[in-house]
Amino acid sequence: MSGTREQFGSRLGFILAAAGSAVGIGNLVGFPVGAAKNGGGAFLLMYAIFVFAICLPVMMAEMSVGRHAKKDPLGAYSALTDNSPKWKIAGWLSIITPFMIAVFYLVITVWIFGYLYYAVSGDLAMLAEPETFGNFINSPVIFAYMAAVLAIMYLILQGGVKEGIEKAAKLLMPALFVMLVLLVIFVLTRDNAMAGVSFYLVPDFSKINASVINGALSQAFFSLSLGMGIMITYGSYIDNQSDIPNSAKLVALTDTAVAFTAGLMILPAIFSFNPDTNPAELSESSIGMIFSFLPKIFLALQTSIGFVGASVVASIFFLLVFFAAITSLVSIFEVPVAALMDEKDYSRRKSLVVLGVLLIVFAALCALSFGFVPFLTEFTNYADAPKSFFDLVYDVFYDTILPLNGLLICIFVMYRWKRHNFNQALQVGAPSYKGSWVERYVDISVGTFIPLILAVIFINTV
Ligand code: PHE
Repeated sequence: MSGTREQFGSRLGFILAAAGSAVGIGNLVGFPVGAAKNGGGAFLLMYAIFVFAICLPVMMAEMSVGRHAKKDPLGAYSALTDNSPKWKIAGWLSIITPFMIAVFYLVITVWIFGYLYYAVSGDLAMLAEPETFGNFINSPVIFAYMAAVLAIMYLILQGGVKEGIEKAAKLLMPALFVMLVLLVIFVLTRDNAMAGVSFYLVPDFSKINASVINGALSQAFFSLSLGMGIMITYGSYIDNQSDIPNSAKLVALTDTAVAFTAGLMILPAIFSFNPDTNPAELSESSIGMIFSFLPKIFLALQTSIGFVGASVVASIFFLLVFFAAITSLVSIFEVPVAALMDEKDYSRRKSLVVLGVLLIVFAALCALSFGFVPFLTEFTNYADAPKSFFDLVYDVFYDTILPLNGLLICIFVMYRWKRHNFNQALQVGAPSYKGSWVERYVDISVGTFIPLILAVIFINTV
C-alpha cells in the first residue's frame, strides 16, 4: 500500500521481533544436540565465533539495506541498483527462498502444534509409541492443525508490523524466556542432571573436522535468519534513530543465549528423566528428537513425578517450541507479503490471502509427501536416492540457497551499493559505531573473507 511505511513502535519491539525470528526450532533442539555430539564446549566456542565474526556482519548488511531502501528485498535490490536486471535475480531469490522455507517450516510447526495438543491432553504414552509420528504425519487430522496454525499466523500478520508482529513478539518472547528458564531450573535440580551437563559441555577438540565446521557455520547462519530476506524486510521497518550495529548484536546475543540455555534443558532432561539413555541414540535431526525421542523421555518422567506432572512438563516444552516456531514463521512469511504490498500495491489483507492460498497448496504437497501420495514421496530420484517433496524443498532452499543469498548480499553492499554507502548507512543512528574497531572489522570482512567462506559452503553443498 502506498502512503507512509509501517514501522516498529520501539527499539525493543524491533529487537524482540528480530530475535523472535532468529530463535526457532533449531535453537531449542537442533543446536544443543548437535553441539553435544560434535565436541561439546569446543563446538560451542567455534559456533560463537561464527555467530559474531561471520554472521553478525551479514545481519548488519541486511538490516542496513532494508532501512536505506525502505522496501522489501526485491524492491531494495532494484531501488539501490537503478533496476539492474542482474540484481533483480538476487531480489527474487530473497523472496522465493523465504516463501519455500515457510512451506516446510509451516509443516513442522503444524506437527508441533499437534504434539502440543496431545501433551496437554495427557497422551504421553501414545506419543512415545514408535509408530505414532509416522501415523500422525500421514493422517488427515494434520490439516485441521494446519488450519489452526494458519489462523494464528493470519491474526498476527493482519495486525501489521506494530500491532501484529511487534505485539506478538512482545508477548511471546518473554513468555518463551520464562518457560525456558523454568524448565532449566526444574531439570537441573533432578538426579543425574549433571551427567547431561557434562555430556553437553565437556570440550572434545578431536571431534572438530571439516564437516563439523561446515555444519556449525550453516547452523549459525540459519539460526540468525540470514539469507532469507527477513532482516532486510524488518530493517525496512525501522527509522534512522535506530542503532543497527547495536540492535544486531543484541539479536545475535539473544539467539545464541537461547541456544546455549536450551542445551541446559535438553541434555540434562534426557539423562535425568531416563538414566539409561544411550548417547549414541541421540539423532542429530531436530525432527527426530522432537517427535520420536523426547516423547519417550517425557514418558519416563512419569515414574518419578507422576502422570500429571510429566504432562505439565511436556506441555510447557511443546508450548515453548511452538512459540519459537510461530514467531519465526511469521517473520519469514512477512517477506513475500511485504513484497506483494510494495511491488504490486496490494493491501496487507490481499497479499496475505493470495500468498496464503499458495502456501496452503505447497504445504499440502509437503505434508502429503511422507507416504500418503507416492508421487510426492518419491518426488525425485537422483543417484538412486529417492527424495520426498519435503526433503527436496529442504535441501534446495535451506542447504544450498541460503549461503548463496548471504554471499550475494555481501558482494552487493560492498561492490555494487559501494562500501562507503554501506559504512555510512550503518553509522546512521549509531554515533559510537563510527571509527570503532567493529566498523573496521565489518569494513574488511564483508568484502573479503566472509563472502569467500559463504562461497565455499555454497559450492560444497552444490
Ligand atoms: N532461526 C530460525 C530457526 O532457528 C530460522 C528460521 C527463521 C526458520 C524463520 C524459519 C523462519 O528455526
